[in-house]
Amino acid sequence: MSYKDDIKYMRMCFSLAKKGAGNVAPNPMVGCVILDKFGKLVSKGYHKKYGQNHAERDALLKLKNNEAQGGTLYVNLEPCSHYGKTPPCVDLIIERKLKRVVIGMKDVNPKVDGISKLKSAGIEIDYVLEEESRFLNRMFIKTMTQKLPYVVLKTAATMDGKIAAKTGSSKWITSEKSRELVYKMRREFDCILTSSNTVIADNPSMSQTKWRCVLDKDLRTDKNSKIYSYNTYVASRQNTPLKNGKLDLEAVLRELYKLGIYSVWVECGGVLAGSLLKSGLIDEVYQFIAPKILNDNAGISCFNGNNVNDIKEAKNLKIYEVKYLNPDILIKACINSF
Ligand SMILES: NC(=O)c1ccc[n+]([C@@H]2O[C@H](COP(=O)([O-])OP(=O)(O)OC[C@H]3O[C@@H](n4cnc5c(N)ncnc54)[C@H](OP(=O)(O)O)[C@@H]3O)[C@@H](O)[C@H]2O)c1
Repeated sequence: MSYKDDIKYMRMCFSLAKKGAGNVAPNPMVGCVILDKFGKLVSKGYHKKYGQNHAERDALLKLKNNEAQGGTLYVNLEPCSHYGKTPPCVDLIIERKLKRVVIGMKDVNPKVDGISKLKSAGIEIDYVLEEESRFLNRMFIKTMTQKLPYVVLKTAATMDGKIAAKTGSSKWITSEKSRELVYKMRREFDCILTSSNTVIADNPSMSQTKWRCVLDKDLRTDKNSKIYSYNTYVASRQNTPLKNGKLDLEAVLRELYKLGIYSVWVECGGVLAGSLLKSGLIDEVYQFIAPKILNDNAGISCFNGNNVNDIKEAKNLKIYEVKYLNPDILIKACINSF
């Protein structure tokens, strides 16, 4: 198998893995491709749902006992070696006598040591596209290693970075098409997090996710606000420690993780966005930009956190996708590297 083939089949694993998006958390998205000893593709599989078969098992069980013998198995994550909700995948790979296993990334779960077990059984191990594999499972890496949900902050701004005029007037900066995309994107997350100020100013329902979280230190929001018609966790001084007189944002996120929330979509104004950014709690920013210029320094900025003197203190991000939505654009950028 050439390096070019390894790349081709690992990319095929990524596409299969993505079919599990939204159904596998807190597990990773994993795809698997199997070639027989002649290099012919004989099976594909992926992890479909949390608690169900892992990708390798899904692909191997579609084959007769000897079909994979002497062949190559591609998988974007190190095969597991422990009993979880399913038995260890390495045992099945060894039993089916694969000759070579090509892996995208090592598992960050400390319980997993599949590579040593495969090597001890005489199976050749190779790695390919490690950076892309880690990027694909960036959510899993964060939740597994930090026990915190993955946080994406969405903001919608003018070209000069304003989310509202100084009066608070903000409806609507972006187009209906962008707003519809936001509603769709929210569904991919376990929880929407917002602030007391945003609930008071906009009275949003944010009904698209299983959970909502409102940060409301002194319980200033109206109990009849639309958001409270749905399952909502309210963080206040009654259940959350304070840090510098404000709710401790990391403590809130840890609490959400304990509730089984692994991904959080944040929609708020500049004050909370600035605080989250400064606390290092945002993993990605989805920035919608409308072709408008407010031209008023007193307008409300997307991020209103720091007294910064030097441009070197600016947060560096890595843009990984830009979408032209006509007339707006959407920029997706990561804050942390994987
Ligand atoms: N264009 C957009 O994408 C977008 C999205 C959402 C909202 N908005 C607009 O943003 C405006 C509201 O913005 P804003 O800047 O006034 O408010 P904000 O940033 O949404 O929220 C600030 C509030 O969050 C709460 N909070 C709790 N813990 C915090 C912490 N550790 N650090 C900072 N804040 C914390 C505080 O209220 P407590 O003291 O009550 O806890 C604080 O006053 C509204 O006009 C809304 O329309 C725009």
